[in-house]
Amino acid sequence: MVVLTLAWITITISVALSPAKRLWPTCIIHGFIYFFFSVIWLYTEAQNYNNDYFIIDKISGPLAILSCWLYPLTLLASLNKMSIEPIYRQRCYILNATVLQVTTLLAFTAADMMLFFLFFEASLIPTLIIISRWGAQKARVGASNYLSVYTLGGAAPLLTLLLIFYSRYGTLNPDSTPYFTWFTTFPHPVLFWVALNLPFLIKLPLYGFHLWLPMAHVEAPVEGSMILAATLLKLGGYGMIRTSTMLPEPLFKTSILFMAIALFGVMVTAVLCYRQTDLKALIAASSISHMNLVVAAALIHSSWSYTGAVAMMIAHGLTSSALFCLANTIYERTNNRTIIILRGALVMFPLAGAWWLLFVLHNMGFPPTLNFMAETALMIALYYWSKTCFFSICFALVFTTGYSLYMLYSTFQGPFPMYIKVPLQFVIREHFLVFMHFLPMALLVVYPLLML
Ligand SMILES: *[C@@H]1O[C@H](CO)[C@@H](O)[C@H](O)[C@H]1NC(C)=O
Repeated sequence: MVVLTLAWITITISVALSPAKRLWPTCIIHGFIYFFFSVIWLYTEAQNYNNDYFIIDKISGPLAILSCWLYPLTLLASLNKMSIEPIYRQRCYILNATVLQVTTLLAFTAADMMLFFLFFEASLIPTLIIISRWGAQKARVGASNYLSVYTLGGAAPLLTLLLIFYSRYGTLNPDSTPYFTWFTTFPHPVLFWVALNLPFLIKLPLYGFHLWLPMAHVEAPVEGSMILAATLLKLGGYGMIRTSTMLPEPLFKTSILFMAIALFGVMVTAVLCYRQTDLKALIAASSISHMNLVVAAALIHSSWSYTGAVAMMIAHGLTSSALFCLANTIYERTNNRTIIILRGALVMFPLAGAWWLLFVLHNMGFPPTLNFMAETALMIALYYWSKTCFFSICFALVFTTGYSLYMLYSTFQGPFPMYIKVPLQFVIREHFLVFMHFLPMALLVVYPLLML
């Protein structure tokens, strides 16, 4: 693990020194090489590889590998837009992306709660820089303000809690800390639970704390959207699952309110998707709906729900990242994201239509995709927990299918758009990029034990 972290730092050197012409290929190949090293984690987790600083187990392993996999893909996705900028800014961009990658990776694998918290919050800085520096429109400043105020507001209670805890027990390592005993002496269990989970609930985001997400997604450049959807939201889910495995059972009775909000959020955001006019905002709203399902799963606190939640996070990370890529390739050619103007895109990008169909099917959990498996596990967990909730989520899934098809239909069907003079075909890079999102999901469908 330490070796790998150091290896990531060597990317910095290659960014600084490689000649302008080779800059992007070098970095992308670097990224892929590190990914192949990170695959080792799938095998070390069998022995529950764990020391004082890093922890790789069934929850953090797949997510850490996902974040390694996404790094070269985000570089590939932003290559077209960035390579016309001055070379100094390109280097800055790659460096910022690398810092973001390393902080999320360390947050996923940190064993100590304080270390986790530090990296969790540190990932905000490169995200803010990427959104506010490379975003396309003026509103990006407002979006970054929202992002930082929400995230930091959530961080304050957890930091206080961790400091109190540390001053009492002198350690924050989850294995050695007597969380349970502390909980029984704590006067306000609900307050304790909220303080512990608020930053994660905001990051996921729970319905009600989600306002920053569509703004950040719409304003961010493609790399920002991909990382945000694929790994940063998952940091919240990971944090919730990680802390909830340490909490005692009775505490979950107090979190029933949040369960209700999450289930409500799944339904409401699925319905809200029908009202989106912006393609990126639609994908963002759809991720809120999926992530609320993860909140519900983390609150149910059973082994089925944890398995389902991790599978859901992996599947949703890859799917939404691919959808953002596809939306971006259309955006680069037509300079618009408004769904209604995009009608008839199928005539422009015939092959892209196949990719859209594939990933929309993934998004709505069509069997036998990975999303379908994840949803099934979650539904089974929910069914045992409460039958009423199960049926309400069934309704939400109908809406999910509906808006996914609506997205496909309203962007791709229809007459050829008159304002396009020269339709530009997809290039090999873009096909490769989308295929690389599909590949791990196909592998996991064939051999799901890899992840479990
Ligand atoms: C990130 O980008 C900013 C703005 O371009 C730049 O000043 C800064 O040096 C970059 N950060 C890193 C770590 O390279």
